[in-house]
Order: sequence, then C-alpha cells, then structure tokens
Amino acid sequence: MKRIFKWLFRIVLILFVVAFLFVFIAYWRSANDCERYSATPTNPMKAVVYCDYGLANLKLEQIEKPTPTDDQVLVRVRAASINPYDWHFVEGSPKIMRALGVGLRKPKDTRLGVDFAGVVEAVGKNVTQFKPGDEVFGGRGGAFAEYVTPRSDRAIALKPANVSFEEAAGVNIAGLTALQAVRDKGKVQPGQKVLINGASGGVGTFAVQIAKSYGADVTGVCSTRNVDLVKSLGADRVIDYTKEDYAKSDQKYDVILDNVANHSLSENRKVLTPAGKFVMIGGGSANQQGWIGVLGRPVQALMMKPFVSQQIGMMMAEMKQADLNYFADQMQNGKLKVIIDRTYKLSEIQQAIAYVEEGHARGKVIVTID
Ligand SMILES: NC(=O)c1ccc[n+]([C@@H]2O[C@H](COP(=O)([O-])OP(=O)(O)OC[C@H]3O[C@@H](n4cnc5c(N)ncnc54)[C@H](OP(=O)(O)O)[C@@H]3O)[C@@H](O)[C@H]2O)c1
Repeated sequence: MKRIFKWLFRIVLILFVVAFLFVFIAYWRSANDCERYSATPTNPMKAVVYCDYGLANLKLEQIEKPTPTDDQVLVRVRAASINPYDWHFVEGSPKIMRALGVGLRKPKDTRLGVDFAGVVEAVGKNVTQFKPGDEVFGGRGGAFAEYVTPRSDRAIALKPANVSFEEAAGVNIAGLTALQAVRDKGKVQPGQKVLINGASGGVGTFAVQIAKSYGADVTGVCSTRNVDLVKSLGADRVIDYTKEDYAKSDQKYDVILDNVANHSLSENRKVLTPAGKFVMIGGGSANQQGWIGVLGRPVQALMMKPFVSQQIGMMMAEMKQADLNYFADQMQNGKLKVIIDRTYKLSEIQQAIAYVEEGHARGKVIVTID
C-alpha cells in the first residue's frame, strides 16, 4: 500500500512539474506582432496600438492603412466610442482572459477599439450595399484609428443624416447589448416590471429607453447625480443606490437586467417574480476584476438551474447588421437618444479609457478622429 502511495505521489509530482513547465514556456513564448510597427509604412494612418498590457503602454502610431478585400468597406473613422470591453483588453483583466487566448504575457492582438462612425472611402468589388461617401456606423476591431475595414454584411449600417458621428459611434456594443438583453434575453412584454441596475451607463441608458419602448414599467438604479438623467430617458421610477438597496425592497420584478453585479444571485432572486428572468450583462470596475471577474456567476447560475423556477443567464451581445438598422431607424425618428458623457481626441485615448475604467461613465464616452 505504502509503495502504491509513493508511486501515486511521484506521478502527481511529475504531472505538476510538466504542467508548470508547460505554462512557464507558454508564458515566455507568448508574443505579438509589434515588430511590424517599427517599419515605416508606405501608406500611413494613425492608430492606437499596445504592445504590452496596461494603459501606459497605449501609443498613437503611424501604421499601414488597410486595403479593403472584395467583401470589405474602407471607412474613414470620424468618431469611436469606448466600452468596458476595451479596458478588459488593455488590462488583460480579469486575468483568466489572458489564458483563454487574449495573450498570456502580452496582448496577441495589438489593436484596440470596436465602435466607429465615419465615411465610406472605398469598397471591395463584391460590395453593393455601400458606396464611397456614405455615412456609416457599426463595429469592427481596431476602431481607434483613422480607418477600419468592416465586412459589408456584418456590423455596419447607414447613419441617418440627423444623427452626428459622435452619437452614431456610441451605439454598437452598448446599444446592441441593451436591445438583445431587453428583446431576446429578457423577452420583455408590455406591462412587465423591469429593473435596470446600472441605468446611467452606456448599456443602461439604452436599456431604459428600449424597455420603455417595449411597454415595460421601468425602474432604473443609479447614483444621486444621475437620477434626473435616468428619469428623463423614460424610467417610471429611479432608485438612488446611495440611499436605497433595490435588493432589500418588497417590490418584485419580472425582469432584472444587471450591468453592475453588486448583489449575489440569491439576493437578486428574492426580488424576482417566480417566473422572472435575471439577465447578467456585466459588472465591476477595472480594479475589481481579479482572476475571474464576473465569469464565476454563469457557473453559479448553471448549478442553481435545476432548483429554481426563475431564468438566470449571462448574455453575450452579438454584432448584427439588422439590429444596427433598428437603431438607425429609431434615431432617425427621434425615438432613441445617445447620451454622450465626454468627448476626447484620439491623442487622449489613455485619459478616455481611464475614465471609463472608473466605472461611472454617464452614457457614452466618445473619441473623435480628425
Ligand atoms: N455581456 C455583454 O455582451 C456585455 C456587453 C456590453 C457591456 N457589458 C458589460 O456590462 C457592464 C456595463 O457596461 P456599460 O457600457 O454600461 O458600462 P459603463 O458605461 O462604464 O457604465 C457603468 C455604470 O454603472 C453604474 N454603477 C456603478 N456602480 C453602481 C452601483 N453600485 N449601482 C448601480 N449602478 C452603478 C454607473 O453609474 P453611477 O455613476 O451612477 O454610479 C455607470 O453609469 C460592464 O461590465 C461591461 O463590461 C457586457
């Protein structure tokens, strides 16, 4: 028996050493393509690049201007917007992201930004929907730059003439998340009681307006300085979280959209109706992420599933052209507003992202590109 334990111990030790070596080698071998930025570009454009994790490593460089492929559109970016998504990549945070493919030691993809609005400069030979001169908005990796090249059938739509580039740039991630949370995950019906935790941020300001347009009775949760804003977006009630805790009230909700994750799933279940839906969107400022951030919550939800009547689930927004067109229509008809908190220049990208990292943006933070 003693010999068996001895051998088992040796095998476990060997496996442990092999796993450690594997992670150690993978960590030191992890690299990116930053060397290519040292070559002088033949056709230059300005773009934000980062070769190492951390805000201080963001740089505005001259890099090669992209050429659209047959199915792509070359867009001259006039404005971009910042999302928590961006700082997750800047910081490589929560740390598990690094092991899940973002880059163990250094970011694999050295470009940043997703949401853009701008003017079409050229199109690939298969593109029929867009032409040079069209004003467009949407989402494409590397949007903190003078040019992006989205595929014409993906996240790009025509911008209504009565909407500014700054407003249109604010839509993609936050707007689509809010729409898909209300319509697809929350399946909000007229008359239902909907609570939006984090009602004054990028996602929240859209979610309040969309839930209202679906006929819901909307309660928004935000801090004192944002109460009037959330009311002005159509919320029937606003809870100031500095004075009142929604999770301790007797009020029950049919749907809770959670952008903050500052209450446990059990606390949220107590204020959900028996058939209610709890939609986990995100939460936590940059310095609250640790190793797994909010990624433990879907696992918890899965374990709870067989024992609870309520539906609890995490959502991941999808960039859909049809949904961008929904926003174009709503904005054109004055039915949906994009709330802009601050506007920065591309050269101030570090300050802009640092502000969003604090977790108290009021609507959208925009970067303009001259
Ligand atoms: N799952 C997805 O597909 C998806 C997509 C987009 C975003 N997200 C995630 O969703 C979250 C929200 O995104 P966002 O773009 O709306 O972020 P944001 O623009 O940075 O907004 C954060 C908002 O949270 C509010 N807030 C902070 N502490 C609060 C508290 N204790 N109670 C209530 N509100 C509080 C802030 O309001 P005050 O200033 O009033 O405190 C602020 O307006 C982020 O974690 C993001 O990563 C997920």
